[in-house]
Amino acid sequence: MTQVIDGKAISAQIKEELKGKVQALKNAGREVTLAVIQVGEDAASTVYVGNKKKACEYIGIRSLAYELPESTSETELLELIAELNKRTDVNGILVQLPLPKHIEEDKVIRSIHPLKDVDGFHPASVGALCIGEPGFVSCTPAGIIQLLKRSGVEIAGKECVVVGRSNIVGKPMAMLLLRENGTVTVAHSKTKDLKSVTKRADILIAAVGKPKMFTREYIKEGAVVIDVGIHRMENKKLCGDVDYEDVAPICSAITPVPGGVGPMTIAMLMHNCVESIQIQEG
Ligand code: GUN
Repeated sequence: MTQVIDGKAISAQIKEELKGKVQALKNAGREVTLAVIQVGEDAASTVYVGNKKKACEYIGIRSLAYELPESTSETELLELIAELNKRTDVNGILVQLPLPKHIEEDKVIRSIHPLKDVDGFHPASVGALCIGEPGFVSCTPAGIIQLLKRSGVEIAGKECVVVGRSNIVGKPMAMLLLRENGTVTVAHSKTKDLKSVTKRADILIAAVGKPKMFTREYIKEGAVVIDVGIHRMENKKLCGDVDYEDVAPICSAITPVPGGVGPMTIAMLMHNCVESIQIQEG
């Protein structure tokens, strides 16, 4: 029987654990505070930011919302971040991406103090992950490690193939699997004979952004398949990068879309916010 990895249930479990930790910090007189900045009114961003604020409220994290107009200049945004960097009552700073075109995203990411970089996007956070030092880890790949561990999937010694090499998912995912002693291959759009590479995978992470690209010809029988994609089909239903109906019968475990990787991202953001207090105190 194929195990369906339930991201909704696992994220709920993590949020419950975090609730307890936040309460314990409150009892010790500490409040966790996350500043969330959105520039402009991108519809998807508004939904994501709303979900982040709701999760904060549920867990007991104080959230400060900065909803800035599209016309905000890069300098104004950098000034706000500089002020939040200095504030001792702010533990985490999150700038929702994408930003309007006139603002350089890289510059903004680098302006967030690494000790408050709860998204884990700052080069210092990425570097810390690479050399195994403490720091914030990008939420989606960190969530995938939790999905695997909490579903009883052993990573050590396994052939892990990550398809996709984005800074937010593919690259940190590879580093995290390596940290768990997986044997890691990163494949991408220029990989030759992708099927023969993915067929080696005991654990396949699909993060390419192409609806239902991975059919069973890409999958080894008994593999664990993690689907990072999320796409709206013409019939309005959601699907992932994996052709679930085709692949599920031949794998040992698989994440559905929706309800797999998706809910984990916010749970891990909340985890990073709680963690920020320890990271800030060294
Ligand atoms: N836009 C889409 N995903 C993310 C995310 O995880 N963090 C931020 N800051 N922006 C996003």
